[in-house]
Amino acid sequence: MRPFFTKEDFLRADPGGAPLPFSEDVRVLGDAVAVGPLTAPSRILYQPMEGCDGEPDGSPGELTVRRYLRFAAGGPGIIWFEAVAVMREGRANPRQLMLTEENAGSFSRLVEKIKETAVRSGNPEPLVIMQATHSGRYSKPDGTPAPLVPQRCPALEKNGVPVTVVGDGYLDRVGEAIVRSAKLAEKTGFDGVDVKCCHRYLLSELLSARERDGKYGGRFENRTRLLLDAVSGARAACRDGFAVATRLNVYDGAEIPNGFGSAPDGSFDPAEPEKLARELAARGVSLINVTMGNPYFNPHVNRPFAQGAYDPPESPLDGVARLLSGAETVKRAAPSAAVAASGFSFLGAAAPNVAAAFTANGSFDLCGFGREAIAYPDLASDILKNGAMKKEKLCMCCSKCTEIMRKPGGTPGCVLRDKEVYLPIYRKFCVED
Ligand SMILES: Cc1cc2nc3c(=O)[nH]c(=O)nc-3n(C[C@H](O)[C@H](O)[C@H](O)COP(=O)(O)O)c2cc1C
Repeated sequence: MRPFFTKEDFLRADPGGAPLPFSEDVRVLGDAVAVGPLTAPSRILYQPMEGCDGEPDGSPGELTVRRYLRFAAGGPGIIWFEAVAVMREGRANPRQLMLTEENAGSFSRLVEKIKETAVRSGNPEPLVIMQATHSGRYSKPDGTPAPLVPQRCPALEKNGVPVTVVGDGYLDRVGEAIVRSAKLAEKTGFDGVDVKCCHRYLLSELLSARERDGKYGGRFENRTRLLLDAVSGARAACRDGFAVATRLNVYDGAEIPNGFGSAPDGSFDPAEPEKLARELAARGVSLINVTMGNPYFNPHVNRPFAQGAYDPPESPLDGVARLLSGAETVKRAAPSAAVAASGFSFLGAAAPNVAAAFTANGSFDLCGFGREAIAYPDLASDILKNGAMKKEKLCMCCSKCTEIMRKPGGTPGCVLRDKEVYLPIYRKFCVED
C-alpha cells in the first residue's frame, strides 16, 4: 500500500479496514480556531519537523531558515516549530536547536521573517509555537548516545549503551529550564511554547515511570508532576496572550511494555490520558497536539508507513485511525483546549477530506501534517484556495527523510520532492557510506 494519490484510491482502498470518515467539502479547514486568547487563522498545522541543521551554539542554520520560510509561504494556520533543547545535555544531536540568552536574537529574526514571508505570500500570519525539549533517553549532545532516563526500560536498551537514571534534583532543574525557555520564547516573538511530552523523550518517559521512587515516580500524580509543574510555571511566568501548549503522547504503543496509555494487553487505554488532558486544561494549557509511539522503536505507531526499516505489523490506515482517535479522546476530555491530531501524511490526497470530516463534527480542531509539510510546503494554500492537494507534490512516505536523520551528521528533508537540496544529502549519508 502506498499513500493515496487520488481521493478515489482512498475510497476504494481497504473497504473492511480503517473506519475513516470522508467529506467532499473541505471548506471547514479554513475556519479560524481559538487558542486561548489567540486565533489560528485556519485548521491546518505544520508539525514540528526537526532538520538537525542548527549551528553548534543552537541557533538556526541556513537549512533551518529555508525550511521555515518555505513553511510560511505555504500558508498553514499554525507552524509548530521543531524541537529546541532546554539544556545542552538534553540535545538529541550536536546540531539540534537550543535557545539561549546569547543566541535569542537569531530566533527573533527567524520568527519575524516567518511572519513577514507568510503575509508577503498572501497568507494570514500563522501562530508559531516553539517546542521546548529535553531528549532524555535519546540525548546525544556530542554525537554519541548519552541517555538520561527517569527509569530503566530494558526493551529500549538492547544496544548496550550505558544509561544514567536521573535524580529528583535533576528533574527539578529540567522543570526550571523549561520555564526559562518559555520566557525566552515569549521574548523572542514566538506565540507560544510547547512543553514537549511525547515520543519517549524525557517528560514522556516519566509518564510511565511506575517503578521510580520519590516525587516523580509511582502514582499518576507523581509521574505527571514535571509536566504539570512546567506548564503551570510557564503559564505563571508568561503573559496571558502567550500560549502554553504541549505535544502529548497519549499512547506509547503495544511494543513498549507498560507504556503510557496502555492496557495490560498493550492496547490503547484512554483512562490516564483523559485524566491528564483535564489536568492540563485546568492549568491553562490552551493547545494540545496529540501523538503516539516512539520514532526510534515503533515508528509505524508514530508515523504510519508502508515502506521503511521494517514491514509494519498493521495496515498504515489502522495506524492513522488510532492517531486520530487519540485526538478525539483528548478533545472529549478537554473541550476548552484546541486539539490537534497527528498522522495525516499517509492519507495523501484524501487527507483534507478526512480532516474536514473529523473537524466538521468537532472531533478535534486542527489537522497536523508532518512529512507532507516537508515534501509539499504549499499544501495548506492548495487546500484552502483550491480545495485539493496536487498529486505530483505528495509525500510518498518513503522513509528516506528519517533514514538521513538516523545517520550521524545527516540533515533530513524530502529526497523526492525537494531533490535539488536533499538528494545529494541522501547520497552522501545513506548511499556512499
Ligand atoms: C524528519 C522528521 C523530523 C521530526 N521532528 C520532530 C520534532 O522536532 N518534534 C516532534 O515532536 N516530532 C517530530 N517528528 C514527528 C512529526 O512531527 C510527526 O509526528 C510524524 O511525522 C507523523 O506525522 P505525519 O504522518 O504527518 O508525518 C519528526 C518526524 C520526521 C520524519
